[in-house]
Amino acid sequence: MSTAIIYWSGTGNTEAMAKAIERGLKEGGAETVLLSVDKTSADAADTYEKIAFGCPSMGEEVLEENEFEPFFLSIEKKLGGKKTALFGSYNWGDGQWMQDWQKRVKAAGAALFEEGLIQQEAPAETVCAEFGKRFAAF
Ligand SMILES: Cc1cc2nc3c(=O)[nH]c(=O)nc-3n(C[C@H](O)[C@H](O)[C@H](O)COP(=O)(O)O)c2cc1C
Repeated sequence: MSTAIIYWSGTGNTEAMAKAIERGLKEGGAETVLLSVDKTSADAADTYEKIAFGCPSMGEEVLEENEFEPFFLSIEKKLGGKKTALFGSYNWGDGQWMQDWQKRVKAAGAALFEEGLIQQEAPAETVCAEFGKRFAAF
């Protein structure tokens, strides 16, 4: 069972979440690849059986619009039945971007793991690693 973590991060907070989630997945025994979104494509991502997507709240409670949103739009229709986790960092909002993102993933027919993990600014890495470890067992 191969797992990819695919993320976008402007100032490093979501990247720190991604790295901690990677550690947890590996602790949980999952074969894991960590990819920033510019290093992959929808077709390449589709070869993984599980995917954890990470993107902070940007714009006004939306996914980052130049790189991540176009990528996600291109993979969204391939997510049917795929074990999918969502995570990202935010600051002043109420997490609306994650609520909207979860709705998209469920509408695509993906098997969504738990609630998307949100962390304000710099993450609690232990919380992220535990999320990854549970995703390994999902
Ligand atoms: C252009 C821009 C727009 C943002 N919009 C929001 C927002 O709508 N809601 C929110 O909670 N945080 C918003 N933030 C804060 C970021 O989500 C927060 O700083 C996060 O930690 C950035 O993650 P990163 O370090 O992975 O880039 C915004 C930040 C920037 C730079």
